[in-house]
Amino acid sequence: MSIFKKTSKKIAVKKTIKKDIFPKNKKSAPKVSVKRKLIVANWKMNPVDLKEATKIFTVLKRIDLKKVKDTVVICPPDTYLADFSLKYKGGKFKFGAQDVSVSNNPESTGEISAEMLKNLKAEYVIVGHSERRALGETNSVVAKKILNAVDKGLKVILCVGEEHRDVNGDYLRFIEKQLIESLDGFNKKYIANLYVAYEPVWAIGKGHASLESNDLHQMNLFIKKVLVSIFDRKIGLSVPIIYGGSVDEENAKQLIEAGEVEGLLIGRASLNPYVFTKILKSL
Ligand code: PGA
Repeated sequence: MSIFKKTSKKIAVKKTIKKDIFPKNKKSAPKVSVKRKLIVANWKMNPVDLKEATKIFTVLKRIDLKKVKDTVVICPPDTYLADFSLKYKGGKFKFGAQDVSVSNNPESTGEISAEMLKNLKAEYVIVGHSERRALGETNSVVAKKILNAVDKGLKVILCVGEEHRDVNGDYLRFIEKQLIESLDGFNKKYIANLYVAYEPVWAIGKGHASLESNDLHQMNLFIKKVLVSIFDRKIGLSVPIIYGGSVDEENAKQLIEAGEVEGLLIGRASLNPYVFTKILKSL
């Protein structure tokens, strides 16, 4: 489902982005290397009890991941995180949280700090998911969360994504602003701990055809361009960009290959361990 009309404007945007990031002799983007992709399962506020959560994880543990070369990160609700992350010794999966406190002050009722997550053996944290932004989380709060998380040694998956698209390309400026403001104060020395997840809000939770892979490729290039402008060419291009929004067993491979992204952030389909297994095996 492409929201673009097939206008020359769309092609022009894509050409300009490519020219800006890969100037002079480099006519095209370098091929995505065959390095490990990052596949993240975002369970959101599911399931409702530990018994169900354990059932899902028990099926996942049976997956023969020997053939799966990617890094697979499970992000359950914090209430189940310790049950998996502290007890699981198989080493096939990594664990992550879906959010982290903006504060390090212990007088923060209801919050969970980056240090606590680290002590639970979580290695990753999703920050700035659109469902949290919808609750009022601003770019500046996201930026502070990121600084806290990387400072405590967590890897951050920064989510950005527009609510709507418009033919004038205002959504590109929206994403640029999200990136610039969310990465305010980010120290380059932590760059290896940063991932950007492009999740167009309109494509999340639809459970069927999401973004067209051509459009994803265009966004991938655009995000790289912004990252290059924030950091520098070498550092900007080193940040892996992953995609989220109605990924399933039908579209996962196509999105990765044609979108040239370095991973996926999967919500609904990750709650069904059989579907999630199919996705992992399809890549
Ligand atoms: P979805 O969710 O795969 O159910 O669209 C993705 C997300 O919100 O991270």
